Amino acid sequence: MKRYGRKIQSIIILLIYISMMLSGCGLNTVGVSDNEPFAEAQEKDMILVGFSQLGSESVWRSANSLSIQNALDEEHGYFLQFNNARQKQENQIKAIRSFISQRVSYIAFSPVTQDGWEIVLKEAQDAGIPVILVDRTISLSNEELYTAWVGSDSREEGERAGYWLEEYLKEKNVSDTQDINIVVMQGTIGSSAQLGRTMGFDSVADRHKNWHILEQTSGEFTNAKAKEVMLDMLEKYDKIDVIVSQNDDMTFGIMDILDEARYPYGEGTDTCLISFDGCKTALELVRDGKINADVECNPNQGEYLRNIIEKLERGEAVEKRNYVEETIFTKENVERYIEDRTY
Ligand code: AHR
Repeated sequence: MKRYGRKIQSIIILLIYISMMLSGCGLNTVGVSDNEPFAEAQEKDMILVGFSQLGSESVWRSANSLSIQNALDEEHGYFLQFNNARQKQENQIKAIRSFISQRVSYIAFSPVTQDGWEIVLKEAQDAGIPVILVDRTISLSNEELYTAWVGSDSREEGERAGYWLEEYLKEKNVSDTQDINIVVMQGTIGSSAQLGRTMGFDSVADRHKNWHILEQTSGEFTNAKAKEVMLDMLEKYDKIDVIVSQNDDMTFGIMDILDEARYPYGEGTDTCLISFDGCKTALELVRDGKINADVECNPNQGEYLRNIIEKLERGEAVEKRNYVEETIFTKENVERYIEDRTY
């Protein structure tokens, strides 16, 4: 939006603010402050962005929030309304509606689940506010309801875990007839991260008749829930050859349970542990041989988001889908990544 347009927008914002103050009614809030942003953004001629973060369930999520807050800070000319939805889609929808009533310049959000966004995004479209998705994807009948997305290819992440396991078993000379018992600790059910990683891994597993997925249960991307689920899995299965855990926080919970049960895992044992995310503690555990492989999910998406907004501000076209760079960490390559890891 051009500077002139923003001046008009600031005046509208100020008028809405004054009329609300006079009528004594506040905006619909979900931890979104009612009034300060209007006045500040108006005074400083800033780009007002409303961001709804899905929660703070993991180390990865905190890094992702920080990346967004750093990229859209005052220094870069932004006024960021940051909302934490505490894992609830209804909170995200309320926050988005609040951003619409505040007439922010852009709405960005990291969707907790894949479905259920059609109505609220139509409201944003009708209000003429561009929406940018961050981290996870959504499914819509009309792709025009959002302007761009930046994040990871979750399906590819799942495939990467599967390909790594193929190689690992080959190197260990495991024959195609030897049974491989696998349990999968999934993330939040219905999130694109859970769906994509599951589909990706399953697509590789399907090629191997001897890979048996005994169970796929959600640990909700949290340490506490994963502990509960792992305890139950240990009671149910005598022999687990592979544990696939869809994020690092759940992996740490799994490790606590395995340690308590004196169940050997990691390098040099019969139970292999695969994780996702690649936070610093997990990378150190890969180096130490406790986690066999960790598929990276890159939380540093703030600058990508800012670049998209800057392009839109200049009136340039933007790519609809923007992928962050990611890799897989194993004992062979992990050392060089540990020092610079900030999360
Ligand atoms: O959507 C990304 C996933 O969500 C990360 O793997 C996980 O840690 C987070 O909570």
